[in-house]
Amino acid sequence: MLCLQCPTNAEWIAVANAHPELILLDHAHCEKKAAAFALALINRYPNRTKLVNEMIGLASEELEHLALVMKELEIRSIVLTRDKGNAYVQALHTHVRPHEPLRMMDWLIIGAFIEARSCERFSILAEHAPTEDMRTLYKSLLASEAGHYRLYFDIAREYFPEADVRARIKEFGALEADIIKGLTNLPTMHG
Ligand SMILES: [Fe+2]
Ligand SMILES: [Fe+2]
Repeated sequence: MLCLQCPTNAEWIAVANAHPELILLDHAHCEKKAAAFALALINRYPNRTKLVNEMIGLASEELEHLALVMKELEIRSIVLTRDKGNAYVQALHTHVRPHEPLRMMDWLIIGAFIEARSCERFSILAEHAPTEDMRTLYKSLLASEAGHYRLYFDIAREYFPEADVRARIKEFGALEADIIKGLTNLPTMHG
């Protein structure tokens, strides 16, 4: 699916379904961090006008998603807890090359992979989540997350040669698959 080289395993699906409230809590933080990541790119690359304009739109959309998830939490009388961090994203970050402009290419590709993996997990939840309202929520977010992963790749292609981007996507695909296989099936969006 998408650019992903390995699918989510069945154990994660079982864990996620056993703890829907923890998935929603972590999901809220994922949307918050997706918006923050877009704003961080504006901060890092203010002179890349196409990137800046696209990230403004993306950050607002991610905040709209955060509002939707907050509503689901409130319906269930769940109060947002502190962000516990995201080992999957942190592991991806360790592979970002340290020097520009390659660093920028890697940030964009990482953004794409996080969106693609989120999209894959949303599609699982859209089908398997334990309640109708959760399945509806994830169905409603699917198209938008698929658009986000394509957006990051398109921006990467805008600023870097197509062949270089393709090669790096392949490398990150293998790295991302290794990270996913090494996870311990926690009740989090990327656990
Ligand atoms: Fe989102
Ligand atoms: Fe997104």
